[in-house]
Amino acid sequence: MNPIMGSLKYFNLLMVLLNFLATKPIFTKSSSFTSKFLDLAKEPNVADWMVDIRRKIHENPELGYEEFETSELIRSELRKLGISYKHPVGVTGVIGFIGTGTSPFVAIRADMDALLMQELVEWEHKSKVPGKMHACGHDAHVAMLLGAAKILKAHEKDIPGTVVLVFQPAEEGGAGAKKILDTGVLDNVSAIFGLHIANKIPLGEVASRSGPFFAGSGFFEAIISGKGGHAAIPQHSIDPILAASNVIVSLQHIVSRESDPLDSQVVTVGKFHGGGAFNVIPDSVTIGGTFRAFSKESFMQLRQRIEQIIIGQAAVQRCNATVSFLEEEKPFFPPTVNNGDLHGYFQSVAGSVLGINKVKGSQQLMGSEDFAFYQEVIPGYFFLLGMENASVERLESPHSPYFKVNEDALPYGAALHASLAANYILKLHQEVPVVEGKYNDEL
Ligand SMILES: *[C@@H]1O[C@H](CO)[C@@H](O)[C@H](O)[C@H]1NC(C)=O
Ligand SMILES: *[C@@H]1O[C@H](CO)[C@@H](O)[C@H](O)[C@H]1NC(C)=O
Ligand SMILES: *[C@@H]1O[C@H](CO)[C@@H](O)[C@H](O)[C@H]1NC(C)=O
Ligand SMILES: [Zn+2]
Ligand SMILES: [Zn+2]
Repeated sequence: MNPIMGSLKYFNLLMVLLNFLATKPIFTKSSSFTSKFLDLAKEPNVADWMVDIRRKIHENPELGYEEFETSELIRSELRKLGISYKHPVGVTGVIGFIGTGTSPFVAIRADMDALLMQELVEWEHKSKVPGKMHACGHDAHVAMLLGAAKILKAHEKDIPGTVVLVFQPAEEGGAGAKKILDTGVLDNVSAIFGLHIANKIPLGEVASRSGPFFAGSGFFEAIISGKGGHAAIPQHSIDPILAASNVIVSLQHIVSRESDPLDSQVVTVGKFHGGGAFNVIPDSVTIGGTFRAFSKESFMQLRQRIEQIIIGQAAVQRCNATVSFLEEEKPFFPPTVNNGDLHGYFQSVAGSVLGINKVKGSQQLMGSEDFAFYQEVIPGYFFLLGMENASVERLESPHSPYFKVNEDALPYGAALHASLAANYILKLHQEVPVVEGKYNDEL
């Protein structure tokens, strides 16, 4: 028996048991929630509405912490739906509330920011802002979360708790998630779910894994100083170009010689600035790069060794070095680690929405995702939502100027968001009396 079928069977058994124990058969509602939501999301009043919203946002991309019009569009749709919200939360963020307004709270999240790049796709709804583009699908993420909001609002009276809608700014390097958390608005949230659309996964399928999923990432920059002079009289200079070159070679020995080969890590130097003439030894060289790892321990180990090696290896060549980890401008992203219990829950819910054969495992990915900040403080689950329809076209990767979204994916994302949140609230609502032992007495 495969583990997916196993956990589904267990979940069904649990539902039967809870139904039996509960005074009100609320879990009957929960199973109908799930089967109903995808059909609802595919209806034109939800599906076409999401497409319109996504295209409007696509035409007007805004960078991290500048999502003012995107935020206003979201608030205007929430007002039309009669959904209350808090704003501004973390500059442009919007936090919506559906349900009783009381515990349990379960959050679903979308990011809103675009990228600093020129769209090269020629279509009716191409970006109208030169040099900015929604090339990571965050426009679609916003539309799907609004789709989920619309569906959930229509079932508000059946939700014994509160769904918290998180529209966050600045996912692309700005750590908008951290800014939202710092406001305390998610303090009492019991679980949070997030998704990213994926170009290489078939439409109607999802992929994820339990435990570490996306890498943690950080950046570093170092200035290596020597003493400039004439290239033909090296004995009067201290050459920072040679020192920086040795630093870079030594940095490559961290992963090859010090890290566990089974614990994937990366150190890449992507920046090397120094000198400008053929016959001059410059005063200093600036190098910079990124490092990635799947656990906080490995990540902090890399950070420490990068600093030691840059300073130590520069000293071998008589140079001084200063190292900065740019924590203000480019905060560290922790690894994205999926909660093990939520993995089982996700598989059973996604299985009933999509069919269990559409719920796939995924490899770990070396990219990073700021959803990780939520997961450091709230049990959280992140998954990839497929959008490839191979019979139509192959889609480019995120961050390509040719990136396109298959809008047929929107109803799947909306239905999954809505089902994951609503069913989890039902589940928590059910568990409370069991924990209190009220029903144990009846046994
Ligand atoms: C969280 O719960 C505590 C205790 O019930 C309450 O004082 C606080 O206001 C709540 N915070 C939020 C953001 O709802
Ligand atoms: C390195 O720093 C020391 C102490 O500040 C200084 O004396 C020395 O000149 C510096 N060397 C270079 C190459 O900048
Ligand atoms: C893929 O696109 C074709 C043509 O538009 C469509 O008939 C088919 O239903 C799509 N596949 C899925 C899984 O939606
Ligand atoms: Zn991105
Ligand atoms: Zn993204």
